Parts: sequence; structure tokens; C-alpha cells
Amino acid sequence: MIHVSNLCKYYLSGGKQTVALDHVSFDIKEGEFVVILGPSGAGKSTLLNILGGIDGLSEGEVLVDQQAIGQLSENALSFYRANLIGFIFQFYNLIPTLTVYENIALMKDIKKDILDPMYVLERVGLKMHAKKFPNQLSGGEQQRVSIARAVTKNPKVLLCDEPTGALDSETGSMVLQLLWDICREYRKTTIIVTHNASIAQAADKVITVKNGKIKDIQENAHPLSIQEVEW
Ligand SMILES: Nc1ncnc2c1ncn2[C@@H]1O[C@H](COP(=O)(O)OP(=O)(O)OP(=O)(O)O)[C@@H](O)[C@H]1O
Ligand SMILES: [Mg+2]
Repeated sequence: MIHVSNLCKYYLSGGKQTVALDHVSFDIKEGEFVVILGPSGAGKSTLLNILGGIDGLSEGEVLVDQQAIGQLSENALSFYRANLIGFIFQFYNLIPTLTVYENIALMKDIKKDILDPMYVLERVGLKMHAKKFPNQLSGGEQQRVSIARAVTKNPKVLLCDEPTGALDSETGSMVLQLLWDICREYRKTTIIVTHNASIAQAADKVITVKNGKIKDIQENAHPLSIQEVEW
């Protein structure tokens, strides 16, 4: 599903160049649950943003579902973001003046073949909150809404940048369990940047990034099921 080869990303700010990604290479198969670990400033968000078509690359090749995203036109990139990618961020980015249901159902304005919003809301355990506004929910519930929104869009790839960063550890592990279940149930290629290393035991692949370089890629031939993870 994803092929990254010698990917480099340079930022120029204030006349100074930062090497955010330095010849990064890896492959991810369809349906894999992948965890990205690494210290602050390692380049994790940069990597996810490039995969999601939010940021451009400087050098190298990135193929997602056989499309070279470094070579897409603005229009093609916009289609790519709308149709292939579901993004989940640390801060849930829900629209405060829309109800939970409306926040999710608006995906049908972006894409045709979406899943039934009510079904997905039930799946994340929030059907009874459908008519509430985001500020009437806890942080963990709001993050589950943003997961439901990304899943409803029915993208090929789910990119999650520290989805539990704003949650306490118990709620955070519930959110990670939900993402894992959804990855397995819908066979969605799922990439999660997290500081919660426990989840790595349930991942098919763990990519560790440091100073813009791949430090380690660990493949788990027999990942634990999420229920077996010791948090
Ligand atoms: N838009 C930008 N302009 C200039 N430099 C940037 C930009 N975005 C990121 N960087 C730099 O690139 C490097 C990698 O940043 P990135 O946000 O990818 O790290 P990260 O691994 O996600 O860190 P964290 O765990 O703190 O979120 C950092 O040195 C950062 O300062
Ligand atoms: Mg980051």
C-alpha cells in the first residue's frame, strides 16, 4: 500500500535549513497496523503529513496505493486527501457548532462511498451522544468522534498523529484499542504516531525514527491481540 524510498524533507526558515527527514525508506502492506515511535523533533509528524498529502517532499519517492504523491498536481492531491486518506489528530478538530452526528455526516459532502455515520457511531460506542455538541463530551469521547469521522469517510489509509496525546493513559489506551479493532475489522492500513510504546506489541510493524532517520524497523510476525497488551 505504501512504498517510501530515500525520502528527504528539508525546511528552510530564517535562512537556516532543517533536515526533518533524511533518506527514509520503508514499506507498508495493505491492512497493516503500524506504530511510529521516536523522540520529539524526530520527524514523525513531518512523515505523516507527507504521506497524507498535507506537506510536500523534497527528495525521494513516496508511492501510496501506486500513486507517486510527490508528482501529483494540486487537484490530484486534493482528490487524494479527500478520498484515500483519513486523518486523526491530537486535538480532535471537531466543528463546535455541529452535533456529533453532523460532524460525521458532513463527510458525504467530501466523498461518495462513505459508511453509514450512525453505524460507525454505534461502533465507537457513541450512538447515544449523536445529538450532543462536541463541548458536551469528554476528551476521550471527542477523540472517538474524530475516529468515527475518519472511518466513516472509508479511506484506504488512516493516519493518526498522537491521537492519545491529549488523553489520560486509561482513556488513551481505550482509543488505541478502538483504532486497532477498526484496523483489523475494516482491514484499513493504519499508521499511528504515539508515545505509548505498549501498543507496539500489537503492531505488525514498529518504525522508530530519530533525527530524521529510521533507527529501527521491527516486524512482529505474531503481534499480540489488543486484549493481550499490558498497558
Ligand atoms: N514547517 C516547518 N518549518 C520549519 N521546520 C519545521 C517545520 N515543521 C517541522 N520542522 C522541524 O522539523 C523537525 C521534525 O519535526 P516534526 O514535527 O516532524 O517532529 P515530531 O517527531 O513530530 O516531534 P513531536 O514528537 O514533538 O511531535 C523539527 O526539528 C522541527 O522543528
Ligand atoms: Mg509531531
